[in-house]
Parts: sequence; structure tokens; C-alpha cells
Amino acid sequence: MKFFIDTANLNEIKEAYDLGVLDGVTTNPSLMAKEGITGTENIRAHYKAICKIVDDNVSAEVISTDFDNIIKEGRELAKIDDKIVVKVPMIKDGVKAIKKFSSDGIKTNCTLVFSAGQAILAAKAGATYMSPFIGRLDDVGQDGMELIAQIVNIYNNYGFETQILAASIRHTIHLLQCAELGADVVTCPLNVITGLLKHPLTDAGLAKFLADYKKGNG
Ligand code: E4P
Repeated sequence: MKFFIDTANLNEIKEAYDLGVLDGVTTNPSLMAKEGITGTENIRAHYKAICKIVDDNVSAEVISTDFDNIIKEGRELAKIDDKIVVKVPMIKDGVKAIKKFSSDGIKTNCTLVFSAGQAILAAKAGATYMSPFIGRLDDVGQDGMELIAQIVNIYNNYGFETQILAASIRHTIHLLQCAELGADVVTCPLNVITGLLKHPLTDAGLAKFLADYKKGNG
């Protein structure tokens, strides 16, 4: 199972990378805006900076929504670094562009997936990754995890190579449920990754061990 961090914040990316368990990064235009990164050149420089921190898999999202411009923009993004994965929205021209990128050997992440039908299209087009948004489905009263289960089943039925990148993860339970269902990747905020570390019995046990050591050793 791969862990990606869902942020454009360099300190958070570095912290997750230093933990030794990070396999990649996903960003989106909202996350870039949150860090105050604006303008094509600054955005590209920021992707370059992210690529310097991690070993692989940096999703960079296109803004274009028509085929020709998605291809143009995606190729520019892919040129930044071999680690770049071009993130393309699940729309008609996006699917066509994913197919083209796939034939050209450019890695893609099909984003904004909210149904199993969309997941099938992404796999048929040859997406490297396909991102179903769990939290946003939960937000509108649909069970995001049911979608993950459905897609895992369908992809297994046909041996689709597209990796299921569970996105819009809000808490550690989401992450654990994705692991149980067999999602290939989870992308989540730093606090969800570090949240896995926490257990009160670990803290209590460590405090007792250290106290007992101190009693015997001064
Ligand atoms: C991932 O690629 C998406 O950018 C992200 O997970 C969306 O998460 P959100 O629904 O918390 O904004």
C-alpha cells in the first residue's frame, strides 16, 4: 500500500518524507492556492521543489478542460521532472487526454471520480492512478467507502492495472478501511498519517518503562 500526502505545503511534505513512509504527493489547485502559490512560473517552481523532496509520484493538476490544452499543459507539467504525474479531471476531454498520455508514456492521475462507471472509464483510458473522493461523497450522504469496495471488485474482475488512489481522506478510520478493502494508494493530510502513530496504551506503556528505568538507574 502506498502513502501519498495530500498537500502543497513543503514543510509537511518534508516531515512526512522524513518519517520514511511516504511514496508520493498529491496537490490540486485549491491546495496550491492555500499555500499562496499563484502564476504559472511559481506553480511550476513549486512542483520542482516538491520533486526535490520526494522520490516519486508528484501529482500536478491541469487547469485546462479541453483536449488540446489538457495535452499541451500536461506535457509542460511532465517536462518539469520524471516524478510528475499529470492530474486530469474526469471529464470527456480528460478521458481522451488520459488515453493519449498513456500511449505517450506520460503518467496520469484521473481525479474527481465519484462513481464506479467513471472508474471504469479511467482504467479503460489507461490512467496510472484513479482518485475516488471518499470524504466528499460522505459529505453529501453517500458512503464513500462503498465506492472503494465496488471499484476494487470491478478492477479485480478484469485485472485493470490502474491503481486505486483513495482521496479526500479525512481521518485514520478512512485510511484503515481503504487498507482493508485493498486500495492501492491513500492520499491524506499529514495529521492522518501521523495519527496512525497514536495509541494511549503506547504512551502509558512508554511512560511506565521510562519511570521504572529511572527508579533502577537514577
Ligand atoms: C486528491 O487528489 C484531492 O486533491 C484531495 O484528496 C481532495 O480532498 P478534499 O476533499 O479534502 O479537498
